[in-house]
Amino acid sequence: MRFTEGIIYDIIVAVQNGCLHFAGKIIAGSVYSLARYVINGGKTLQGTVTISGAKNAALAILPAVLLVDGQCRIENVPDISDVHILLDILKNMGAEVTEKGSVVTIDCSPVRSTCPEAALVRKMRASYYLMGALLGRFGKANVALPGGCNFASRPIDQHIKGFLALGADVDESDDYVALQPGVGGLHGGKVSLDVVSVGATVNIMLAATLLPGQTIIENAAKEPHIVDLANFLNTMGARVSGAGTDTVKIRGVRSLKGGTYAIIPDQIEAGTYMAAVTAAGGNILVQNVIPKHMDCITTKLQEMGAKITSYDDAIRVERTGALRSTTVKTRPYPGFPTDMQAQVCVCMALASGVSRLTENVYETRFFGYCTELENMGADILISGKTAIVTGKDHLHGATVEAHDLRAGAALVIAGLAAEGQTTVEKIHFIERGYENLIEKLTALGADIRRLED
Ligand code: UD1
Repeated sequence: MRFTEGIIYDIIVAVQNGCLHFAGKIIAGSVYSLARYVINGGKTLQGTVTISGAKNAALAILPAVLLVDGQCRIENVPDISDVHILLDILKNMGAEVTEKGSVVTIDCSPVRSTCPEAALVRKMRASYYLMGALLGRFGKANVALPGGCNFASRPIDQHIKGFLALGADVDESDDYVALQPGVGGLHGGKVSLDVVSVGATVNIMLAATLLPGQTIIENAAKEPHIVDLANFLNTMGARVSGAGTDTVKIRGVRSLKGGTYAIIPDQIEAGTYMAAVTAAGGNILVQNVIPKHMDCITTKLQEMGAKITSYDDAIRVERTGALRSTTVKTRPYPGFPTDMQAQVCVCMALASGVSRLTENVYETRFFGYCTELENMGADILISGKTAIVTGKDHLHGATVEAHDLRAGAALVIAGLAAEGQTTVEKIHFIERGYENLIEKLTALGADIRRLED
């Protein structure tokens, strides 16, 4: 059963020592199902979990296929709802798509539309990559503003700055962005981003790949999925260099040809399982990972008391003793990812002593889950962009709501570690980004079920 829900909940805020204490909640999803997870917590995790392909890489690479003449075979594509929505958008536009397990075969040669279905575009965030990809392929695009996780204000001014530098005319109406060539036509250009933005870096790379001349992106994002997109484009014949550094250079080529490409493992999915065993205790092998991508997360979980051993493409995480408090500040890669903020907060809520968690990318992200964790017994005080987390011996089960993808993952971790039963509602957010979560956790010994009304 699916229906549309109202937008805003009440917030009750108590001021204590100049800090804000949350006793309410904000931000509601737009459309959700009544499915929920029921978790009987208190069991340690044991065994092996295999990490799926990276969500954020897949969401950049699938639109990039619009730039390719011919068929691409993309391997290690995660089976998550965001990917299905994106594939539906591409199919609606005329792409020929075949899905078999984690392999997607896709040919965008038949696509003629430059105006993707708005209702689908609004269901997810990364649909804004269609702007860059369509501008690159057709020289024009008319794309609705995206939806997805609204844990903060998420402007796209840096994307627009990039399109303008490439010679585009940009017309932003209330909920659409229309792009077409400016008077001088489209061409390579130089863009210095005012903030390090993953989305803007990806969109400019997509728009520039087939344009004449060289494009230089300064202050570019360095996340693993930026490198993965560059590797995909180069495999198909593009000339992208510098991905993974501050400066990405794209020398325009006339066309890209089809080929085969395998998406990297998901850094955040791996980090979520690592945080889960750190919070709930146990000993698991997280396989199909790139340990280098995990360094920033590994270091913090080790500081908290997890014993972590890295192998070529796997990481073992063991936690038997008590957790210790720590300090975490989120930063763009290679810093600690904002997408792991909520999961590490659960570990802090169970650590002895007082931890400090500072959010430097999306300041309002705490609103998505801190109140819910407090309902489970956590002690969290928000002071500006820092959460001060005083660890407790245990959390207790409660009925809680996911307000966005990573907040929802954190509540699942809290439920696994808590005493008693936890029900996590609005799980459609979680299913946007975690493949087979129930199956993977059950295989690790967790008691978690998905219930539908
Ligand atoms: C991507 C990820 C998301 C992650 C985020 C930060 C995808 C599909 N999503 O989101 O999971 O949480 O990176 O690692 O890859 N900003 C501007 N103007 C812009 C663009 C961004 O001010 O035009 C600001 C944002 O408000 C934010 C910061 O820059 O404070 C970083 O945002 P950005 O890296 O663009 O995030 P997304 O690409 O939306």
